Amino acid sequence: MDTRTKIAGVELDSYVLNASGVRDTTLEELEAIAKSDSSAIVMKSCTIEPRKGNPEPRYMRLQLGSIQSMGLPNLGYKEYVIFSSQLKKYNKPIIASVAGSCADDYREMVSAFQDSDVDLIEVNLSCPNLEGKTLAYDFEQTGEILRAISDLGDKPYGLKLPPYPDVYHIQVAELIEKHGVSFITLINSIGSSLIIDSETEKPVIKPRGGFGGLCGDYIKPIALGNVRAFYELLKNEVSIFGVGGIKSGTDAFEFLLAGADAIQVATTFEKQGPSCFGRINKELIEILERKGYNSTQKVKGNLKYL
Ligand SMILES: Cc1cc2nc3c(=O)[nH]c(=O)nc-3n(C[C@H](O)[C@H](O)[C@H](O)COP(=O)(O)O)c2cc1C
Repeated sequence: MDTRTKIAGVELDSYVLNASGVRDTTLEELEAIAKSDSSAIVMKSCTIEPRKGNPEPRYMRLQLGSIQSMGLPNLGYKEYVIFSSQLKKYNKPIIASVAGSCADDYREMVSAFQDSDVDLIEVNLSCPNLEGKTLAYDFEQTGEILRAISDLGDKPYGLKLPPYPDVYHIQVAELIEKHGVSFITLINSIGSSLIIDSETEKPVIKPRGGFGGLCGDYIKPIALGNVRAFYELLKNEVSIFGVGGIKSGTDAFEFLLAGADAIQVATTFEKQGPSCFGRINKELIEILERKGYNSTQKVKGNLKYL
């Protein structure tokens, strides 16, 4: 039994891979992912210029997940273009993640990665922690960015999205279909969350008065709801990465039922290190075998109804 899968036609050896943003900023960290059981190497979201990110503390582990306002610390996109050629020897799909502030930024970075050794390009429109706003909540600007990047090359590109309430699902699905988006990654951490320490009477992270992106167990039902809603709307024509609160094979199985083609892991990777990918995939295989399924494809999207 294996859990091989495809995202936008690119083959992945298993259902489980890392999510952008955790332990994937330097070449050393990316090589550790390459050597792990993660079925692809997803790189840190990069920007036009290198960034130091927000003041610390900017990440806090919580019992049920984490909160972060990293502010996109990264080495600048040109380094990640170079890294992609250095990572090629590991024979694993490489996924770039780009985060700009306007359509021109996205055009410059997507164009560079179209000419690089990456296999897929994840366009992050959902960083919740920068000054200004989460781009994906502005449909006009999202349309402008999609128009700017859709004709730049043959490598499939996808969108990393924030969670949406149901009133916006149809509008977002229409944008995805109209601009030839090949995959979507649901969901980014949930922005403008606030964790308060009642003893100190302070927030647990420093940037922006304590507001940050919530991750982990807290957000799993919201991630599952978004995966399911977009799976139903896009009818298998757009591949889906599920992400949010995945710690175990059971979590991965739930995302498979909801319709995800593969799942990504962030907070659990931060807490447990690279062994989590193989463990989660092994637990998923055990569940599939116990239930008598011989492939993930038989289960994908087949959520039963009450
Ligand atoms: C420390 C940290 C940094 C992150 N940085 C990024 C990033 O650069 N780009 C991105 O698309 N998502 C980023 N994320 C969001 C994750 O990729 C993921 O969508 C979110 O954490 C939910 O998954 P989880 O519950 O497994 O943590 C980051 C998350 C964490 C915890």
